[in-house]
Amino acid sequence: MKFFIDTAELAEIEDFAATGLLDGVTTNPSLIHKAGGNFFETIERICQIVPGPVSAEVTATKADSMIEEGKRLASIAPNIAVKVPLTWDGLKACRVLSQAGTMVNVTLCFSAAQALLAAKAGATFISPFVGRLDDIGQDGMALIDEIVTIYANYPGTLETDILVASIRDPIHLVEAAKLGADVATLPPAVLRKLVRHPLTDKGLDAFLADWEKTGQSILS
Ligand code: E4P
Repeated sequence: MKFFIDTAELAEIEDFAATGLLDGVTTNPSLIHKAGGNFFETIERICQIVPGPVSAEVTATKADSMIEEGKRLASIAPNIAVKVPLTWDGLKACRVLSQAGTMVNVTLCFSAAQALLAAKAGATFISPFVGRLDDIGQDGMALIDEIVTIYANYPGTLETDILVASIRDPIHLVEAAKLGADVATLPPAVLRKLVRHPLTDKGLDAFLADWEKTGQSILS
């Protein structure tokens, strides 16, 4: 399973990229607004930090303009994945951009039918938003299950990677991995939580306290 980070904050991206565990980055207009700074400079810098796919979202709503914006975004770096919304215009733009060899991430997916359309349009990634479905009392992870099943029914035809988005906690990640989703995009706060377990901290404290009592040192 690939791990993407869901942020436009450069310091956070640098921090997690240094672990060697980061496979890509997703951004959206809200995350760009939150991070501040110039959109193009930010995306260019992210593409330098992380060699894997970096999603940058179009803001036009008509297919022709989305395609123009997509081409401009794709010119920033070879690892750009152009993000388009799951609308008819977005699907048209997805088809044209993906046929031209550009990675496309179709975003704001909330149903299995939408995911099927995106795959037929040649999307590199489909982004189902699990947290936002949970927020309205629906089951976000059930949607991932449905999409995994549908894509698996058509091997060699529906080649789109399932990129689980709108993740709110580590349980979402674990459930998505159990279902076989290809990618999870995680907010920095959730990424940070993944490594933590109180028994790890407690165990390490005890080991170090006992080691101290031996009066020995590994390097001298
Ligand atoms: C994914 O690409 C989106 O940027 C993101 O996961 C949305 O998450 P949110 O629902 O927490 O805003």
